[in-house]
Amino acid sequence: MPVTSSAMPASVKIVDVSPRDGLQNEKQLVSVADKVALIHRLQQAGVPNIEAVSFVSPKWVPQMADGLAVMQSVQRKPGVIYSALTPNMRGYESAREAGMDEVVIFGAASEAFSQKNINCSIAESIERFQPVAQAAIADGVRLRASISCCLGCPYEGEISPEKVAEVVDRMVDLGCIEIDIADTIGVGTAGRVKRVYERIFTRHSPQMFSGHFHDTYGQAIANIVAALQCGISIFHGSVAGLGGCPYAQGASGNVATEDIVFLMQGLGIETGIDLTQLAQAGAEISRVLGRPSQSRAGSAWLARQAAQAS
Ligand code: HMG
Ligand code: MG
Repeated sequence: MPVTSSAMPASVKIVDVSPRDGLQNEKQLVSVADKVALIHRLQQAGVPNIEAVSFVSPKWVPQMADGLAVMQSVQRKPGVIYSALTPNMRGYESAREAGMDEVVIFGAASEAFSQKNINCSIAESIERFQPVAQAAIADGVRLRASISCCLGCPYEGEISPEKVAEVVDRMVDLGCIEIDIADTIGVGTAGRVKRVYERIFTRHSPQMFSGHFHDTYGQAIANIVAALQCGISIFHGSVAGLGGCPYAQGASGNVATEDIVFLMQGLGIETGIDLTQLAQAGAEISRVLGRPSQSRAGSAWLARQAAQAS
């Protein structure tokens, strides 16, 4: 029998970020066809929100230069939200051309990371996001924000929950309807995750926040449980545990989406995702990249299915 807690939600929204966060750091260019095939497999598996592309400078992130071509080739599944990272108006215009359902402005709770990642201070980034936010709201495009380094920074070390809360306030002021609390370098632990969310929830309600956890220290699943207990019901993952930010040295991939779905199944929490199809999506992109999947749940699940079939 699945174990449920009254504090836990009956269902969660999973955002798979593998086509964007998962692939952006790959040195070898992944073809448009392989990116599109990955997106098709994710939507087929039932993923309700796919972070598909980013519209950033191709000099900064060459792997993401083909976002428009990718989106023009995707045969969209009705009801799925397709998201793109948009750091400025140039990115927003590309996102509009690509017909994105959601744009993501991305800042940081660390000044040093903000400079390294988007080449400006936190205050300057908020100014830059303002026209993007206004345009998205006017055009009826969903507006999400992602805040990096909420649980630690590769350059500054510890980041205070107070600093995270300040940036959250600015993103709320801009009109964001969803805000990602990101552990960019995967250094967070469950107690700290709770302290950050508790600080934020002194001013805002949990419904609009997500957990975007990288798994460098193997703490992401524990952090997700801690976040669930705080009332979070949106989680980001990347199939096969792909991912990493080019401007966060040493950061490993996102927590594997397969591992999140397996966790939720055990807790009796609905995701709407078929784990077999999801694990196959992870196995297939791993084959394309020429290395084994980092998802332990995905690999074990497929091995069990193969054993049962033989
Ligand atoms: P900049 O150099 O300060 O800005 O970059 P700029 O306006 O001077 O532009 C430089 C060049 O880029 C120009 O081209 C622009 O036209 C071009 P040039 O004249 O030199 O030929 N450009 C663009 N091209 C295409 N699309 C655009 C665009 N904007 C400018 N939108 C900028 C500032 C923000 C553009 C740059 O720093 C950048 O692109 N950074 C992106 C970094 C990035 O994508 N990082 C990874 C994603 S964040 C992440 O992974 C974290 C997350 O997962 C959460 C977590 O885990 O923490 C979300
Ligand atoms: Mg990330």
